[in-house]
Amino acid sequence: MNKASINQHTTVRVEVNNLKAYYLTEQQGVMKEVRAVEDVSFEIEGSKFLAIVGESGCGKTTLAKVLYGFVNSNLSIVEGRVCYSFGEEEYEVSPTNNSLKDVWWEKIAYVPQGSLSALNPVRKLKDIFLDLTRSHGMPFQEEKVKNHLKMVKLPPYVLRMYPFELSGGMRQRVVIALATFLHPSVIIADEPTSALDVVTQRDILRLLKSIQVDAKSTFIFITHDISLVPDLADVMAIMYGGCIVEYGPTEVIFSHPRHPYTQFLLSTVPTIGDRAEKRPIPGNPVSLIDPPQGCRFQPRCPYRESVCAEARPGLLEVETLSGKCWVACWLCR
Ligand SMILES: Nc1ncnc2c1ncn2[C@@H]1O[C@H](COP(=O)(O)OP(=O)(O)OP(=O)(O)O)[C@@H](O)[C@H]1O
Ligand SMILES: [Mg+2]
Repeated sequence: MNKASINQHTTVRVEVNNLKAYYLTEQQGVMKEVRAVEDVSFEIEGSKFLAIVGESGCGKTTLAKVLYGFVNSNLSIVEGRVCYSFGEEEYEVSPTNNSLKDVWWEKIAYVPQGSLSALNPVRKLKDIFLDLTRSHGMPFQEEKVKNHLKMVKLPPYVLRMYPFELSGGMRQRVVIALATFLHPSVIIADEPTSALDVVTQRDILRLLKSIQVDAKSTFIFITHDISLVPDLADVMAIMYGGCIVEYGPTEVIFSHPRHPYTQFLLSTVPTIGDRAEKRPIPGNPVSLIDPPQGCRFQPRCPYRESVCAEARPGLLEVETLSGKCWVACWLCR
């Protein structure tokens, strides 16, 4: 497979190679595989903001978990590997190894989907920060925590509060403050704003972008809302049915989307002055227990040809009028 890659000369490098991650689930007494991440490959190097976009159920959260090495007996990596290089140090997540766990919070942090309920409800925020610093063998310095809270625009008195005493937006800022407290080089944030009103959402997204730019960190941002992407991401990956179907610089994909699924997703984005009726993407999302042969989008694709049902296309580099991107579609070759 021709692997998508966006490069810049800095020290963080994330390399994902032919990653497959499946759940085991029981259906009517029979154990079945849910093929939630299928042959995902990409590379990012340096300080980048990567957005991973797709409809509900396409495998975004599963990919985020695997990228963080957050696997368990129910979700396993079947094949492939994720490799992180932080300068000379390397860590990996693979079917046989998960060294990334050793540097959770310090080198890589994860803001899980639904993280508003992820804070321990019976611990005051001061104790939550205390637990984080102590578990990393660091002294608790209240001034340092207060300064960090200021960075995410939270007043110092929140340290005396329980999570349930905060608004949704404040809680999300706390989660971001915790995730960034040890200055990780990579931050994975899964739908960090989807439970918030639009004004709070905009403030939080601005905050995330400013953290990424100031700290020169690598951000992997998961969203189902493609309209959020242009203001944030340098690079984007479109996911469908567990696979990445298009990958490349945001401006290239927005100006010249090549995959039919990306074209559908973009056609649903409202623009000022556009009165055209927004039509939903035809058909239903694919079943990941029993995915179709060939391209997973082909049952819904208006352009499908016989080859589309024969084999699954890998990502291939294509040249567009605004630059190159990588597309997994037989008809874009
Ligand atoms: N714990 C689990 N056990 C079995 N199947 C699961 C589990 N979690 C998710 N799945 C299945 O894996 C597939 C991908 O789910 P995932 O949560 O990764 O999607 P998503 O793109 O994050 O969706 P959303 O936008 O709704 O958050 C779905 O078919 C889902 O039903
Ligand atoms: Mg999800």
